[in-house]
Amino acid sequence: MKIFLDTADIDEIRTLNETGMVDGVTTNPSLIAKAGRNILDTTAEICALVDGPVSAEVTATDYETMLKEGEKLAAIAENVTVKVPLTIDGLRVCKHLSDNGTMVNVTLCFSAAQALMAAKAGASFISPFVGRLDDIGADGMNLISDIITLYDQYHFNTEVLVASVRGPQHVVDAALLGADVVTIPPKILTQLYQHPLTDKGLAAFLADWEKTGQSIL
Ligand code: E4P
Repeated sequence: MKIFLDTADIDEIRTLNETGMVDGVTTNPSLIAKAGRNILDTTAEICALVDGPVSAEVTATDYETMLKEGEKLAAIAENVTVKVPLTIDGLRVCKHLSDNGTMVNVTLCFSAAQALMAAKAGASFISPFVGRLDDIGADGMNLISDIITLYDQYHFNTEVLVASVRGPQHVVDAALLGADVVTIPPKILTQLYQHPLTDKGLAAFLADWEKTGQSIL
């Protein structure tokens, strides 16, 4: 399963990219606003840092303007993935850009029916928001399971990108279901490898090692 970072913070991306665990990046208008920088400059910098797909989201809602925005974002770098909302205009833009060889990530997906539409529009990625579904008392992971079943059934190439991830258990659940990608905020990447028993065990090993007076080097 690929791991994307869900942030537009270039410093965090630079640091975590060095771990070798980062396969791509997703941004959205809220994350760009939080970073407080220009979307075009930020996207270009992230694309130069990270080898994998970098999602940059359009902000227009009508087909013509959305398409122009998508083409402008796509021209930034080869690894730009244009992110469009799951609306009829977003799906039309998805079809147009995908037919012309641009990767498209269809975002704000909350149902299997919507995911089916995105696949038929040629999306490279579908982004179901598990956390926001959990927030309203639904089961986000059920949606991931349904989409995977549905895509397998018809051999769609659209990758299931699990978004709106709230913690490590979402990542594990997505992996158990066979999702293609999870996109996670930087702090969750840290939570994925940390465990108190690892820290405790390491401290005990080092204390015992100290008593031997040995050195490996
Ligand atoms: C990523 O593509 C999504 O925009 C993001 O994961 C949404 O996360 P949130 O629900 O925490 O805002």
